[in-house]
Amino acid sequence: MTGDPYVRIFDTTLRDGEQAPGCTMTRDEKLAVARQLALLHVDVIEAGFPAASPGDWEAVHAVAQDIGTHNGPTICALARANERDIDRCFSAIQPAAKRRIHTFIATSDVHLEHKLRMSRARVTEVVAAMVRYARARCEEVEFSPEDAGRSDPVFLREIVGIAIECGATILNIPDTVGYTTPDEYAAMIAGIRRSVPGVENVVLSTHCHDDLGLAVANSLAGVRAGARQVECTINGIGERAGNASLEEVVMALCARRQLFGVETGIDTREIMRTSRLVSACTGIAVPPNKAIVGGNAFAHEAGIHQDGVLKNPLTYEIMRGETVGWDGSTLVLGKHSGRHAVRCRLEALGHQCDDAALDLVFTRFKEVADGKKVVNDADLTALLSGLGHEAPSITPVPASRARLRHLTPRTTSAL
Ligand code: KIV
Ligand code: ZN
Repeated sequence: MTGDPYVRIFDTTLRDGEQAPGCTMTRDEKLAVARQLALLHVDVIEAGFPAASPGDWEAVHAVAQDIGTHNGPTICALARANERDIDRCFSAIQPAAKRRIHTFIATSDVHLEHKLRMSRARVTEVVAAMVRYARARCEEVEFSPEDAGRSDPVFLREIVGIAIECGATILNIPDTVGYTTPDEYAAMIAGIRRSVPGVENVVLSTHCHDDLGLAVANSLAGVRAGARQVECTINGIGERAGNASLEEVVMALCARRQLFGVETGIDTREIMRTSRLVSACTGIAVPPNKAIVGGNAFAHEAGIHQDGVLKNPLTYEIMRGETVGWDGSTLVLGKHSGRHAVRCRLEALGHQCDDAALDLVFTRFKEVADGKKVVNDADLTALLSGLGHEAPSITPVPASRARLRHLTPRTTSAL
């Protein structure tokens, strides 16, 4: 394992994320997301692919001008391994104080034969010439052997060695089609670290797609094997099944700090806000069960869980909602909920029940809950008025004691 404990977070929401069907963003939307990514403290923003369209050049240029300050993130953009793409890329990122050209070419036989129609020898020449070309313009050059995950490991190591020799400062190892497993991905990173001359002078990076649902696991395996940059996107958006999700990678490294022994510079409290903004700009909703940012990620409905969480959040939570900027209630009342949670919610709404009153309320609550997915505050209030004089021992709680919104006692937690 490398001695460097810092894992750089390279956000590619505005490039690989935007490539997902239906995820295109306007210049202004990209600017808004980039500003939020800067607040999140990502290390690198890949702002787009300037050769793809005049609009994308424009958006990357605007991000470089607006966010690329000395103490802001590095602004990066993508270029195929040809002079025109590299020139377009460099002119777009030029205004940024810290900038990076990211150039790539495929190295797997299937891509060489069917897409590029190039020999390995020709790819080798192109890599050498284009990495040199990019490095003559920009201090930071990242090289990616596309489809590394399905490339012949011997050829992959040869190409990576040439990229280093010709001036690449960051080597990204893409599992472009999400084919590898964590063991295989880690072995690929470890093999490069073990056998490529000069690798100790560059940063190794992960770039994993989620076709088999393994993007985050593969990225973390890459970190364990010595990668010190992770490429990822907010909400995991990206080509096909998406990229490794930034929030999942960051919170895994954070919640399991002892295991990984590394840190990131991310301000985790900005995660939820960033997720919502990306969802609003792309129109792609976040599924409720999505880790970290889904609507249910910090919600408990089952009575046994609610009782545990009310006694001590550590029973069913491995991180605090506040750590990732979660501002909602954590206890959801439904047909699985128990008396403890109902009593707490009533108190939060300003009503105190003795045991007999709670029995009455709870019976009625279960009847209502059987007919609805969620029993909200308005339902509870209606339920109380419906009981009328049948519930004489429900008394108002002084406002100072009524805990509105957060019902969970947050005195101890995992983070
Ligand atoms: O998935 C991929 O291979 C890419 C490269 C351009 C880095 O997105
Ligand atoms: Zn990709």
